[in-house]
Amino acid sequence: MHPRNPAPHGEHCGARGVSYNVRPCDCPENGRRNPAVHAHLTYSGTPFVLRTHTCGELRAQQLDSHVTLSGWVDKYRDHGGVVFIDLRDRYGITQVSFKLDNVSEIQQQAQELRHEDVIQVAGEVVSRGEGNINPKLPTGEIEVRARELTVLNKSRTPPFEPNGESLPNEELRLQYRFIDLRRREIQQNLRLRHQVCKTARNYFDQLGFLEIETPILGRSTPEGARDYLVPSRVHEGAFYALPQSPQLFKQILMVAGYDRYYQIARCFRDEDLRADRQPEFSQIDIEMAFVEFDDMLGVIDGLVAAMAKEVRGEEITLPLPRYTHAEVMEKYGTDKPDLRFDLPIAEISDLVAESGFGVFKNTVAGGGHVRGLCLKGAADKYSRRILDNDLKGLVGDHGAKGLAYFKVAGGKLESSIAKFFNEDEQRAIIERMQGEDGDLLVFVADIWKVSCAALAALRNFLGKDLELYDPAEMQTCWVVDFPLVTRNEDENRWDAEHHMFCSVHPDDVELLKTDPGKVRAQSYDLVCNGYEAASGSIRIHNPAVQQQVFDLLNISPEEAEQRFGFLLEALRYGAPPHGGIALGLDRWVMLFAGSDNIRDVIAFPKTQRASDLMLGAPSDVDARQLKDLHIKLDIEE
Ligand code: AMO
Ligand code: AMP
Repeated sequence: MHPRNPAPHGEHCGARGVSYNVRPCDCPENGRRNPAVHAHLTYSGTPFVLRTHTCGELRAQQLDSHVTLSGWVDKYRDHGGVVFIDLRDRYGITQVSFKLDNVSEIQQQAQELRHEDVIQVAGEVVSRGEGNINPKLPTGEIEVRARELTVLNKSRTPPFEPNGESLPNEELRLQYRFIDLRRREIQQNLRLRHQVCKTARNYFDQLGFLEIETPILGRSTPEGARDYLVPSRVHEGAFYALPQSPQLFKQILMVAGYDRYYQIARCFRDEDLRADRQPEFSQIDIEMAFVEFDDMLGVIDGLVAAMAKEVRGEEITLPLPRYTHAEVMEKYGTDKPDLRFDLPIAEISDLVAESGFGVFKNTVAGGGHVRGLCLKGAADKYSRRILDNDLKGLVGDHGAKGLAYFKVAGGKLESSIAKFFNEDEQRAIIERMQGEDGDLLVFVADIWKVSCAALAALRNFLGKDLELYDPAEMQTCWVVDFPLVTRNEDENRWDAEHHMFCSVHPDDVELLKTDPGKVRAQSYDLVCNGYEAASGSIRIHNPAVQQQVFDLLNISPEEAEQRFGFLLEALRYGAPPHGGIALGLDRWVMLFAGSDNIRDVIAFPKTQRASDLMLGAPSDVDARQLKDLHIKLDIEE
């Protein structure tokens, strides 16, 4: 069977990969070869046996050559005299025809082929002829006229077709992930993921970074989610914690003199899951010694530019814009604003403090804020029902007690509550909101935090609903100068905004004692299209300052010693100034893929309930295993 093909593809250029016997390759994409369709089908100059080409590779240039392809049956059509098979692998699809005047035995075999059977065919590349060309397929000009067919493996009837008309529900796709992974879209996403990783590795390599792995079995780290714990067999009653990030190890590497570290690190967090969160996810994790704030941001600017260039072929302007935390909260109500559209929040508290509208007046009198959005030309876009139910419900989900709205018409406000505002107030509000006739103004009156959360959610919804941006666009910015700590009113204490190793803004050290809420951290987030895509900080490398921060966070020296003693000890042995950051790899790939579901860019993701439907994990374990681990389950039936 396996015809050894003398075709030039036997000696692929081998610029990368494993072929050594290099002579110029005459394939159509020579020079600008696209590895997505074009795998090196030789090793040490020897062609692979089961295929000479991938299913995405053949073009008119190969007409008349004898080829062997292997792949999955994507579609089959029996046109009486001819059986057509669309043969698929991850590089593409090639049409294969079996004609009656062929050997009848393979004709019959071909008629029995079904979805997802794995086959090998050998034959000639022939033209499809005018009128039969499929412009949608890169291989659409040709087909392979099969002379030989080997069924490598029959498939059971699959629960769904990978490239079928409709997408089955996600549960079924996750259960049969091996079939789902054959879908073109997921294949593209995983390729993209590979490209992002490769770009990051090349980038850091060029800058002299070392890729260093850190342990998975460890102790609790400070990111503040719940830990996944692993019981120790050897140490009765003791547990390892899976890392929420390599944070402590990378700081120790800086003390140890590995001044440029990176790693594509797996992190584990037992937290409530959302569309952009997985319990097990990956970070492009970075730490550098002898750097300051601007150095860190500069290095990551370069990485973002390299990724955008490699993945999207896009030149982005550097430096990426930087906004302070205070600025974005004021203007967008969130520390992760979607900057693909400009729909800023404006405040009208001062203009309505004396108005006749009790809700606004009382809110301002109570120290609250009245803030809102101006939606250009949207006066008639939403019915009262939508405004009073849907949009009010949306802000209500974020704690707002209501949504006030007005149309601007004839230079005045129009709505059921417009009568509570005199002419001067109406004019001033319209001016502040930069409103014009035909605009819709919406307002939330509440405490600062609620007005931020509610308006940020409303802004995101309206930006999308009113199509204020091109979904394919990417807008990345830095948010800097986060507060060091935030007040936890429920527990009456200060919590670290990022984590407790962030250094304090040099101008704010004195405030640590007097007004902690005003202290800025030397921390930074990278925000893309409304997602937090990276987060990091310059660290504290001085044990005395670290103690001051622990004091503020109410972490006693004993507790600090118990939880992070090894890091504190390391910091006492010559710690250089250092800082770092971690990019959410899955989120970046999701953004590049234009998806809003993180599971689409992970080969084997978990569900919203943190289970793996293919493996059936988590699962019960043997009584024996539990005994070894000194664990006794005490679960009420
Ligand atoms: P942080 O906790 O902010 O920082 O995490 C860094 C980035 O990781 C991504 N991310 C996630 N992605 C998917 N699923 C999750 N559950 C998840 N949680 C976080 C986000 C986030 O910005 N050690 C610090 C970094 C540092 O200071 O160097 C850390 O882990 O994109
Ligand atoms: P009410 O006085 O409750 O009938 O509300 C009159 C209008 O003001 C309604 O459209 C409410 O949705 C709106 N409203 C009520 N409370 C608030 C608030 N805190 N912020 C903004 N609008 C509000």
